[in-house]
Amino acid sequence: MTLWHGRFADKTNPDAFALNASISFDQRMALQDVRGSLAWSEALEMAGVLTVDEQIQLRAGLQQIEAEFQSQSFSYVPGDEDIHTAVERRLGEIVGSVAGKLHTGRSRNDQVATDFRLWLLDNIPALDVALNELQGALVERAEGDLGTIMPGYTHLQRAQPVLLSHWWLSHFWPLQRDRERLSDFKKRLAVLPLGSGALAGTPFAIDRTALADKLGFAKPSPNSMDAVSDRDFAAEFLFVAAMIGLHLSKLAEQVIIYSSAEFGFIELDDVYSTGSSLMPQKKNPDPFELARGKAGTLLGALTGLLATLKGLPSTYDKDLQEDKIPVFEAYDTLTAMLPVMAGAVRTLMVKPERMAAAIDATMMATDLADYLVERGIPFREAHALSGRAVRLALENGKTLGTLTLTEYQSIHPIFNEAVYNVFDPQQCVSRRKALGGTAPEAVLAQLKQAQSLLIVEGVHHV
Ligand code: ARG
Repeated sequence: MTLWHGRFADKTNPDAFALNASISFDQRMALQDVRGSLAWSEALEMAGVLTVDEQIQLRAGLQQIEAEFQSQSFSYVPGDEDIHTAVERRLGEIVGSVAGKLHTGRSRNDQVATDFRLWLLDNIPALDVALNELQGALVERAEGDLGTIMPGYTHLQRAQPVLLSHWWLSHFWPLQRDRERLSDFKKRLAVLPLGSGALAGTPFAIDRTALADKLGFAKPSPNSMDAVSDRDFAAEFLFVAAMIGLHLSKLAEQVIIYSSAEFGFIELDDVYSTGSSLMPQKKNPDPFELARGKAGTLLGALTGLLATLKGLPSTYDKDLQEDKIPVFEAYDTLTAMLPVMAGAVRTLMVKPERMAAAIDATMMATDLADYLVERGIPFREAHALSGRAVRLALENGKTLGTLTLTEYQSIHPIFNEAVYNVFDPQQCVSRRKALGGTAPEAVLAQLKQAQSLLIVEGVHHV
């Protein structure tokens, strides 16, 4: 039996009922629905709508339902259109007709918005922990790989040497911003819609501030029409999820190319790779390719929901039921992907000799310009002179390190023997000591900062 059969002479067409039903996915909010109903029954009692005895009966029934959900013994019946219907139907079976009083002054419109917000509030901490786990893996790598220098790229062209640890940590900070976004998002998420009724508010003397407090919300929503239609929080969650997906995809793309034979900078551990059914030699970075691929799916979830929301008239429209699947899917995708990426990052093997071999003196052409700047030549001119040295080297099949002093002096007489000190990657890296740079001491300071942001024994630093 639906919750709205009164004004209908006939039963809904079975296919239309199936299309309408959301139980297949909104049963995920079962515990939140019960919790919301418990708090609502208390608010009704405080408002004098329910007697103490009635509330006690409803409480007992709801607690039994909660236990059934927890032990997975709750049975759904074919008429359970959504989780709200299922809970109310079961409550009636347990406590009898008093169950019919629970929905007084409430609508599924404010109820579903409340359940959904509660679900996110309950589940965001686990996503935060999963992000933190990958951050922890990146920090561990940065600690372990401190002595290694790699070529840094711009435009995917060899640019300047950097510490491998600096590169690892370059993937830590985007995730930190994602964690901050999640935390900031909670401010807008923790606003309680319950007590808004279908759209116009509730006529009973509900203390919505106390209700918000009881359910762990910061405050009640200020406008009932807005409250039942506001899905900004779902879109905002999907934006954060898409952003996380994008960050994972960027990391993944680099792991994929660095583990190709052409780069050969890293090798994935066997337990995080897959083989080919045809080519026996293959070792494929599937988890990273999936991270890259799923970033597209996550982006689709965001744009899909935004398109659903665009142009809806005020208050509740059934279109809004389309909000949950993308949110649940995005959440599941990320919580499945993050631990695998953390494990794969922790266990992959780095090949410092391959990284070193990919660095040649020409990558230090900027340092060559800086060498001239130190001798009083303006940077613009120094840049041009260093560029000429690069061209001379390329024309003669040499590098900046193998040009002779005579060749250097043919470019500018100021060059002397000290020019060859410029081309030590270690020194090149060490020169970039300013905050945020790749010098070992700057990276150590950065590492310390990163370590301090990790969750330690359940203490969040976001
Ligand atoms: N299953 C619905 C949803 O998820 C619950 C709200 C139904 N409200 C209504 N007026 N039909 O959006």
